[in-house]
Amino acid sequence: MRCVIFCFSGTGNTLKVVEEYRTHFEERGVEVAVRKVTNRLDNFGTDDFDLVGIAYPIHGFNAPEPIIDLVKQLPASDKDYFVVKTSGEMLKLNNISSNKMAKILKKKGYTQVGEYHYAMPYNMIFRHTDNMASLMFDTAKSLVPLHVDEILSGNGQKLDKVFLGSFIAWLFRIEHKFMPINGKHFKTNDSCVHCGLCERVCPKGNIRLDGGKVQFGDKCVGCMACAFACPKNAINTAVLNGWKVNGKYDFSATPKMQEGDHENYCKKSYIRYFENAEMLTAHKDDICK
Ligand SMILES: Cc1cc2nc3c(=O)[nH]c(=O)nc-3n(C[C@H](O)[C@H](O)[C@H](O)COP(=O)(O)O)c2cc1C
Repeated sequence: MRCVIFCFSGTGNTLKVVEEYRTHFEERGVEVAVRKVTNRLDNFGTDDFDLVGIAYPIHGFNAPEPIIDLVKQLPASDKDYFVVKTSGEMLKLNNISSNKMAKILKKKGYTQVGEYHYAMPYNMIFRHTDNMASLMFDTAKSLVPLHVDEILSGNGQKLDKVFLGSFIAWLFRIEHKFMPINGKHFKTNDSCVHCGLCERVCPKGNIRLDGGKVQFGDKCVGCMACAFACPKNAINTAVLNGWKVNGKYDFSATPKMQEGDHENYCKKSYIRYFENAEMLTAHKDDICK
């Protein structure tokens, strides 16, 4: 069996989870090709594969625009597909993020066989602690093998529908119009060392170093790859600058719930998610004994 996973990931969280999928599919004898969704992706073919995965970070309760563009370009097919998504909190409203892409894929003949949502640290809004980031990633790692088994056995998870979900998602998709306008106003400050990392990490090819000046174009999708990766924290993200998160998380920190700033933010939904994951993985161990 062969599986292709199309993955959009601004700051690496979704890609980290997708790599776990690759490992566990391969352990079960499934060949996996991971295709990063960037402006350089030119192979949208699914003919060589039996199963298709679509992976993305949730942006404003929606899939980012490159994912919508991707599914529009996929060929019509009767193949099965699954969804992997990451986000900074686990509110049920995030379930609506796949509504539009699922509609497009259904029209093309694809059948959804599973949808999985993982908490991963915020790359915008506020910085989670490294301990919380570690707890999130460890939890995703513990869940992925169960989810891979479910997908392969045809028992994939379906997420609950949200009342008026498609309408709410449509409202929040204003974000797709806003990001290119906001992104054009990104600026670097005097700390910029013109290392070119922002240009290299931008999945849209929207940043250019022009005579030592960093130029931001009008194709920004707000993934925050540039501002997150900048080694000098030199990028001002215009209207969103107050929510900027800069610098990699240390996923090797001791896994622990968020402490200090923001420790009560969405606490109940995190606890529910972590406890549920613990219960599921403990149950799996019982079955294996
Ligand atoms: C523009 C933007 C909008 C976001 N909106 C949401 C959201 O609606 N809900 C949420 O929980 N997280 C949201 N996040 C956080 C990301 O979904 C989360 O950090 C994700 O794991 C980042 O994945 P990546 O590293 O693969 O890009 C948003 C992030 C960005 C940059």
